[in-house]
Amino acid sequence: MMRAQFLTCCLMMLMVVAHVKGQALAGIGVNWGSLASHPIEPSIVVNMLKDNGIKKIKLFDSDSWTVNAFAGTDIEVMLGIPNDQLNRFARSFNDAKDWVKHNVSKHLGNGGVNIRYVAVGNEPFLKSYNDSYIKPTLPAMQNIQKAIEEAGLGGQVKVTVPLNADVYESHSNMPSDGGFRSDIYDLMIQILRFLNNNKSPFLVNIYPFLSLYQSQDFPQDFAFFDGGKTIADRNNQYTNVFDANFDTLLWSLKKAGYPNTTIVVGEVGWPTDGDKNANNNNAKRFNQGFLKKMASKKGTPLHQGPIEAYLFSLFDEDLKSIDPGNFERHWGIFRFDGIPKYALDFTGQGREKMPIGAKGVQYQERKWCVLRKDGNDMNEMVNALSYACQGADCSSLAPGGSCGKVDLPHRTSYAFNQYFQVRDQSVDACDFSGMGQIVSDDPSSPNCFFAVEIQSSAHLLKAGHVVTVLFINAFLFMFLNFM
Ligand SMILES: *[C@@H]1O[C@H](CO)[C@@H](O)[C@H](O)[C@H]1NC(C)=O
Ligand SMILES: *[C@@H]1O[C@H](CO)[C@@H](O)[C@H](O)[C@H]1NC(C)=O
Ligand SMILES: *[C@@H]1O[C@H](CO)[C@@H](O)[C@H](O)[C@H]1NC(C)=O
Repeated sequence: MMRAQFLTCCLMMLMVVAHVKGQALAGIGVNWGSLASHPIEPSIVVNMLKDNGIKKIKLFDSDSWTVNAFAGTDIEVMLGIPNDQLNRFARSFNDAKDWVKHNVSKHLGNGGVNIRYVAVGNEPFLKSYNDSYIKPTLPAMQNIQKAIEEAGLGGQVKVTVPLNADVYESHSNMPSDGGFRSDIYDLMIQILRFLNNNKSPFLVNIYPFLSLYQSQDFPQDFAFFDGGKTIADRNNQYTNVFDANFDTLLWSLKKAGYPNTTIVVGEVGWPTDGDKNANNNNAKRFNQGFLKKMASKKGTPLHQGPIEAYLFSLFDEDLKSIDPGNFERHWGIFRFDGIPKYALDFTGQGREKMPIGAKGVQYQERKWCVLRKDGNDMNEMVNALSYACQGADCSSLAPGGSCGKVDLPHRTSYAFNQYFQVRDQSVDACDFSGMGQIVSDDPSSPNCFFAVEIQSSAHLLKAGHVVTVLFINAFLFMFLNFM
């Protein structure tokens, strides 16, 4: 009897524990970008999200294969409309209606997809876009909103726009001096009015990593949530740049006359490669700290209470532009193949706990392409390395990257392998005028990982896309380092 009771009690406790373990913190979602040469099959990704208890996902497009994978789950989905579509939807209400019909309405209903938001554009006011999207963004949002209302979904699906944190600024760096950027001030007011009228949230991407990356003088600890540094602004003490940034936005909203706007953090995270500050330890420190902070529901000095936020990002994406920096392809909490990189407790309790990886990912054969050992001339190596890196992701070779310190023959091998894997291990892709060689012994070293690609979920792979994007992103400085 005693024993039976004991067993029942403990089984129940175990069940409770298991249940808690499986639930990510409420209000926390993850971004899932699609700029990977070998994307993981959506159904595998959806199972992985369920295994980790993640209930909210933010996409950058509305690919129907991906969106359909969420049908029948309770995972809340944010669809995206890429910037290059803004002009089209700004110009044509019919196109907007068509888009809503095929990309939103189609997925809803019983057993359908829980679509909650449509993000129109992505950081369209970034200064590097040279004002290209200043004009079409709001009209596109208005047309999509109108189309959603006409489809009878006005209460259910909210239209917003993810904005980069440089839409506001503070010349003194004090949150209380914050205000919207003067060149887009009037537009921001109109967008706030739109969001307010439609009860849509203000979506902002906040990157303490970039504060550190962009300024040599930035106090490193202030980028994290456990640092000692404090900055006083009026009566408030700031212990981290995330809070300071968030409150700069709150001040900007207040001064603009929209103090009650709901803020959702569209992207927040830390990369693991391609820069001296980008590594697993820092990413873990930042993300664990962030989730613990969110679990405490303390908010920021100006905003008490929970904050809704989407971590950036699920997987590494080897086709992302590295114009902003070599770290861009390494934001994943999980590697390109769905293996978790570091301990992260999605419940926000800060436990040393690896996320659950993707199950059922198929790899290509266990083989690699490396430089032949004998008779390599330095110039030939430099040229071959340069050629390979123009057609593959070599961002881990960048200064501060995980393979940044290996010698020239190893760099060349690394580049050869990247080129070979992204081309699905085609024999031709390991030629390099006879300098390449296919091997079956893993050439990885503790500080430089040689990948074996996964089998591509081919539907997502647009022909020609890989090579074009990678060529655009060719970067030569790495090779010049040697000369
Ligand atoms: C989204 O809508 C457009 C129409 O605007 C349609 O051409 C496209 O196929 C839709 N996308 C998907 C993935 O269904
Ligand atoms: C913006 O302008 C600069 C300088 O004119 C140019 O180099 C860059 O390519 C432009 N970027 C875009 C996205 O048009
Ligand atoms: C913001 O909310 C507060 C408290 O609910 C309210 O008193 C105030 O009038 C609101 N301000 C605006 C501009 O809507």
